[in-house]
Amino acid sequence: MGSERITIFDTTLRDGEQSPGCSMNLDEKLQMALQLEALGVDVIEAGFPVASDDDFAAVRAIAKACRKPVIAALCRTLPRDIDRAWEALQDAAHPRIHTFLATSDIHLSHKLQKTRAEALDMIRDGVRRARALCQDVEFSAEDATRSDWDFLVQVFTVAIEAGATVLNVPDTVGYTVPEEYGKLITYLRERVPGIAGVTISVHCHNDLGLAVANSLAAISAGARQVECTVNGIGERAGNAALEEVVMALSVRRDVLPYTTGVNREAIYRASQTLANITGHEVQPNKAIVGRNAFAHESGIHQHGMLSHRCTYEIMTPESVGVRSTNLVLGKHSGRHALAKRFEELGYPLGRTELDKAYKLFTKLSDQKKEIFDEDLLAIVRDGLTHIPEAYKLRALQATAGTSMFATALVTLASDDGEMTETALGDGPVNAVFAAVDKLTGLNGRLVDFRIHSITGGADAVGEVFVQVEFDGVIQGGKGASTDVVEASARAYLNATNKVLFAQRPPAPAPIETRC
Ligand code: KIV
Ligand code: ZN
Repeated sequence: MGSERITIFDTTLRDGEQSPGCSMNLDEKLQMALQLEALGVDVIEAGFPVASDDDFAAVRAIAKACRKPVIAALCRTLPRDIDRAWEALQDAAHPRIHTFLATSDIHLSHKLQKTRAEALDMIRDGVRRARALCQDVEFSAEDATRSDWDFLVQVFTVAIEAGATVLNVPDTVGYTVPEEYGKLITYLRERVPGIAGVTISVHCHNDLGLAVANSLAAISAGARQVECTVNGIGERAGNAALEEVVMALSVRRDVLPYTTGVNREAIYRASQTLANITGHEVQPNKAIVGRNAFAHESGIHQHGMLSHRCTYEIMTPESVGVRSTNLVLGKHSGRHALAKRFEELGYPLGRTELDKAYKLFTKLSDQKKEIFDEDLLAIVRDGLTHIPEAYKLRALQATAGTSMFATALVTLASDDGEMTETALGDGPVNAVFAAVDKLTGLNGRLVDFRIHSITGGADAVGEVFVQVEFDGVIQGGKGASTDVVEASARAYLNATNKVLFAQRPPAPAPIETRC
């Protein structure tokens, strides 16, 4: 008998994106969704359409672009939510409405002010409405692990009767432990009529660091869909990490006889893409995708590794797409090699994009001897973004010292030509930001500033991520350069351009020519 298939439901773009500092714009969500499709996830939860017009647009765009996976849209059980989710899914090849309601007494009384009987009515009505629109309907009992088990039996019975095809048992606050969670799944399987005909899903948060362990316990007890996120991003301590679930199932097939459709070699790339988009670097000791996940520092370990890899390695870095050496290109590499490497990295570039990328690449290779994959990814990210640049950085000069104010002179280009301004600041970066504000007329307040070197060495490219508040709106920006002050200026300008793009006046409505 072959192993049973586990459905991988990725919620990076919904639950993951909801976590602080992880918000993405439409282009970024689309870029990530395409990576998830290449990764081979079965379901992409693309957003919560009723939450905002941006979320709606993102679900719509992803539904159009990703044809292979199921595209899920989240909604409460309210009619308006369900209809909006369905509207966003109109172009999906495989749509799923994912509707949810909290079922624990804590949530029912303090958040929803509803009785259990009212909750059952809302679930029945919501799932029925969703099912009338879509063949594939998932129902989630939010805070299931702190709900009364017998009430959960009633909840899921009602959901199945109303037409749900997937039942999700979320550990919303990361409270359960593996044994208990496994027992809950068994309890439901034994008591909910018709449960054998639907898929049981699990959705675990990581507040006690048990999200992956709980998910695996639930699989052993009969769950067949796991909801997870790349790098484990998500509310508070995050969600179960996709890469950890997938690799646990792969490495320990002896005790977990299940398969997934995930292309393991694309894991690292997906992890890096997400880190690059959000600016949240993966912690170095993170399982599977952290910088140190395959590093061997101590002499004993190194000696063991040299004798035989299996001494200290339970999976190879290559099996998750980490290449032992990722030095790829140098000054003399041609356009063809560059195009090929971009394609291997998951970015097949069109002619114009390749021209632009090649220009940036040659500029970078004048500054830096060796170009790594991460450098190329930075080129795609920062050089080929689709946000129109109202302002472009033309020149920058900054001075700083221990007993003087820092000063900056910045020249920007816009449709009105080139303009230069100077400003003082506490440090060179602060002075540059002040000069940019003078030129754009905006007044940004820096909320977060992070810097890291993309690759090693004294000539490393530094990448800066900023979060800037403009008039109550927080916008992320990023920039890369071998000069950290320039990288900071580019990041700040990127955030500025994004906010200006978001504020652009709406396009005039098309003139109706038919009667
Ligand atoms: O954590 C949770 O309960 C959720 C649901 C909406 C599935 O994210
Ligand atoms: Zn969640």
